[in-house]
Parts: sequence; structure tokens; C-alpha cells
Amino acid sequence: MKAVILGAAAGGGFPQWNSNAEACRRARAGDADAMPRSQASLAVSGDGERWFLINASPDLRQQIQERSILHPRRDLRSSPIEGVVLTGADVDAIAGLLHLRERQAFTIYASERVLAVLRANPIFGVLAEDCVRRQAVPLAQPFEPCHVDGSASGLEVELFDVPGKVALYLETGSSPDELLGKPGDTVGVEVRAGAQRLVYIPGCAGMTERLKRRLAGASVVLFDGTLWQDDEMIRLGLGPKTGRRMGHMSLSGPDGTIAAFRDIAVKRKIFVHINNSNPILIEGSIERDMLAKDGWEVAYDGMEVSP
Ligand code: MLT
Ligand code: MN
Repeated sequence: MKAVILGAAAGGGFPQWNSNAEACRRARAGDADAMPRSQASLAVSGDGERWFLINASPDLRQQIQERSILHPRRDLRSSPIEGVVLTGADVDAIAGLLHLRERQAFTIYASERVLAVLRANPIFGVLAEDCVRRQAVPLAQPFEPCHVDGSASGLEVELFDVPGKVALYLETGSSPDELLGKPGDTVGVEVRAGAQRLVYIPGCAGMTERLKRRLAGASVVLFDGTLWQDDEMIRLGLGPKTGRRMGHMSLSGPDGTIAAFRDIAVKRKIFVHINNSNPILIEGSIERDMLAKDGWEVAYDGMEVSP
């Protein structure tokens, strides 16, 4: 299995278009310690030729442009992108589907809940269903995605529920009940090939015993790295929401992700979906050193994460 990070940042990207915070200014100015990152997405392949994307970020057009592995090679009109697996219906997971119009055949794999959101938004009709297949994937049931020509991908994929919330634009109120997602709203993806096990979880509201069991023994885990501290956006004056309110557990502290992973045996662990307010985006920051001591890496666009 081959795997490449297409984008490592959370929704908004780094720098975010309307952020005048110091880190974003440094990224915009070309500071080598504040490397820009596009919105979160991963490409995986069983043969190194044909690729499945996990999420289609709003930056997908730029991500394709920047990665030659995703350039057309075969026919006059063609693409090595054979499918897109969705982990939720957030804007940063699905908006990039609109870049994939132009009558190119591929398959969208998602939970029934996420496919229902696509159906309810007529703009996704630009991906005509006689050309772009939509396959409902039951949770916790491994399947082998096929290439468009019907050949086997050599990958076994499984979607599994993780703690999360409904997509921001589908929130109907702010009480915990109204925010809580239903199974299938926020999922993780496990991709297996032989003994290799890659797990991609760009959004996770909390660590559970069940999730720990799922992660144990993975070759590489790519995990929600949205915020360093739950109240960081508020403290920095960037916004009114905590990480918890946005459906993301934070990295630091006794309930944080770094602590939660200390008793989970995984070979390689990498933060993805990193918000532009998170100090781990800055090379040489204290926070970056702290997570490195715990064996964590910080994803960047183009990073090879093959298990
Ligand atoms: C998130 O990860 O919390 C969402 O992508 C937020 C958003 O939709 O902007
Ligand atoms: Mn997001």
C-alpha cells in the first residue's frame, strides 16, 4: 500500500484566507518554519498507479496539480483517481467533489448518512450518477473497493464510527443532543493490504475503549490534530468555540490525544487536520518538541505515509 498526504490542515487551511494571526502571516510570507498546508485529504493506492482519495477537500484542484501521481496518464481524458472515500459531510471533506465534475467515472464510498447529505444538496448532481457511482458502505464491514474497470484494488477498506458531531451547516441548535452525531456522521477509515494497517481519523471528539482497541497494532495512524488546547481559539481571540464544541478532542492535557495514545501500541502516529491556530504548525515550537518526544509526527502536504 502507498499513502500520501494531499493536505494536512483543518478546514480553512494554513494560512486561512481571513486570518491575520502571526502564524498565518508567517506562512503567507514564506517563513520556512511556518509551511503552508492545504485542507485535509489522503491518497491511498494498492498498486502505486491507481488511487483512492480519503475526503475531497476544497483544495483538491490544487492538490491534484501538485502531485504528479494524480495527473492523467492513460487516455486523452483520464484520471488515476478511482474513488473517493468520505469520513463525514463537513465542507472540508466533500466540497472538493465539485472539482471532480467533467464526466470522469469514479466511485464515492460513504456511510448512508453522508450519502443522504449529498442527495439532499442538488449541487452534487453535477456528478451525474450514470458516471459517478455512489456506494453506501455499512459501518464495520470491510469491503474491497474496485477500480472503475472492475479490477480489484488490493485494498481492504473499513469505515467505523467515531465520536463526533453533525456537520456545522446541519446544526439545528447548540445543545449537546442537537450537536451529537448519529452513527455514520463521523467515521474513521481503516485501509489494509496484507499485514499493513493504516487508520485515518481526521475528526474525533473523544477517545473510547472501543477506538483504542481498533487502533492497537496499526502500522500508521493519521489522527485529528485540530487544536493544541480546547480553548485556544478563544484565548487567541480567533473565535468563540472550543474544540469540544467543534467535535474535536485536543492534543494536550490529561484528557488530550497525546496522553490517550500513550497506552496504544501503534508503529507510526501522525497528526493531520491541523487548525491554523495550532502551534504545532510552527517548526521549533515548544509544542512541536513536546509531541515529538511522544513519538508523534506532524503531517505536511506531500508527506509519504505508506505503512
Ligand atoms: C471541522 O472539522 O470541525 C469542520 O470541518 C468545521 C467546518 O465545517 O468548517
Ligand atoms: Mn474539518
